[in-house]
Amino acid sequence: VSIKYKRSLLVGLGLLICTTSAAEDIDTMAQRMLPCAACHGEEGRASREGYFPRIAGKPEGYLYHQLLHFRDGLRRHDGMRYLIERQSDEYLREMAAYFAALELPYPPPLAQDIPPERLARGEALVSHGDEAIGVPACQACHGERLTGIAPDLPGIIGLPPDYIAAQFGNWRESSRRTVPPDCMSLIAHRLSLADITAVSAWLAAHPMPTDTRPDAELGQPLPMPCGSVRSTGVTP
Ligand code: HEC
Ligand code: HEC
Repeated sequence: VSIKYKRSLLVGLGLLICTTSAAEDIDTMAQRMLPCAACHGEEGRASREGYFPRIAGKPEGYLYHQLLHFRDGLRRHDGMRYLIERQSDEYLREMAAYFAALELPYPPPLAQDIPPERLARGEALVSHGDEAIGVPACQACHGERLTGIAPDLPGIIGLPPDYIAAQFGNWRESSRRTVPPDCMSLIAHRLSLADITAVSAWLAAHPMPTDTRPDAELGQPLPMPCGSVRSTGVTP
């Protein structure tokens, strides 16, 4: 997916966030992070429509790694990179901590126009995986409630279906990477395009649980090693 932004818009937004913690004129993190709302929605809580992912309430380590990856080119998106390319690790960590701590209501699920048997296939992948193609259940890593596990595993509900499907495209085209072993890239290559559509649709139509926060622990070892998860011993 390619989205083109006017460079002038990005320059303006970039100037606003470029003010580091020491600045006196813009003094709170909430104010410094206002430019993010232009794309990620008010307080980072994007809706399920459109393309922009919600960032509010995602686990801190996950957000931090993604910001590092955009800045350092492991994950490619011109707008994101432009905004943070001159920021220090410490400031990116502060941004991650700020958005991770926001507890805000989620948008309602979006009904999907897809045949019931495809939706059922999506659900089967989420809760059981498919051993024949080497894909573990999404729940085995993203948590029983699919709200993620702090600090490194993101939730996968409450996101726009177009965004989810596009991420699978990015993994397959290597425009989204992380430190190896890159478990999501392997999974994305093992799923067919029909499976990716099915699972994205099921996730988009799934309501959030009452407690939307990530779980504190997974309670079992990861079914495959993932480089971006600290408990596997590899840190980006
Ligand atoms: C010009 C629009 C735009 C602005 C402004 C913007 N972002 Fe983004 N951001 C995006 C897009 C688009 C994506 C998804 C990119 C992709 O396809 O991988 C993204 C992805 C992200 C992600 C990864 C989310 C995830 O679930 O993996 C984080 C974290 C993030 N942005 C943080 C920020 C922060 C913090 C700011 C403000 C400093 C900001 N963004 C400003 C467009 C924007
Ligand atoms: C072996 C563990 C594992 C399994 C199984 C797994 N994931 Fe992931 N997933 C991760 C990790 C770790 C990340 C964090 C990003 C990274 O490592 O690059 C992630 C990230 C994601 C993201 C990005 C979220 C965002 O905000 O951008 C999506 C979407 C996703 N996974 C969907 C799925 C789906 C759908 C399944 C089931 C078909 C699945 N995952 C199965 C480990 C897993």
